[in-house]
Amino acid sequence: MINIAIFASGTGSNFEAIDKQIESGYLKAEIKLVVSDCLNAPVIEKAKQRNIEVFSFHPKEYQTKREYEKKIKEKCMALKIDYIVLAGYMRMIGEELLNAYPRKIINIHPSLLPSFKGKGAIEQALDYGVKVTGVTIHFIDQNMDEGEIIAQYPLNIEHKSKDEVIQAIHAIEHEFYSKTLKKIWEGGYEESTN
Ligand code: GRF
Repeated sequence: MINIAIFASGTGSNFEAIDKQIESGYLKAEIKLVVSDCLNAPVIEKAKQRNIEVFSFHPKEYQTKREYEKKIKEKCMALKIDYIVLAGYMRMIGEELLNAYPRKIINIHPSLLPSFKGKGAIEQALDYGVKVTGVTIHFIDQNMDEGEIIAQYPLNIEHKSKDEVIQAIHAIEHEFYSKTLKKIWEGGYEESTN
């Protein structure tokens, strides 16, 4: 059984999708902790309803990133967290956690990286006028939306409205985040790269 912490700042639809796949038995993991840097993020209530421990904090109440990440690290260590799964966590991960969890922090981003990093990736792609965008799942490093790419899922967005693109991107995320996590945790990803 893999113990995971999900970090999220917002709605938590990816959190819900992963939780559903755990409940169904598809993913052999347990969400031991939800971390949020946004005290009123809807994901917090969703986690509490499921009796999942929550650590929410206001970054401004800490002098440095290292300080609050030390707290998060302590929680993760106490709960024996194996993997950190970022699901809409709008903050860069610092050295404290990167060093504690090398190649164990996974992110999902709504574009085909390295294109359209950062906030508003779907809007960036639409504004640029690309015909194809998609979703990237990757291990993180110290740079924003960089690090070893694990999987990418393209989406043709020609003749689609903004709402249709947003919906389609989320549908891909909800299906493929769990599928990719399963591959990583059950060895399929390593096998295909060795
Ligand atoms: C997703 O689009 C994800 O790719 C990005 O943030 C969004 C989070 O959505 N990193 P939700 O909170 O899971 O609904």
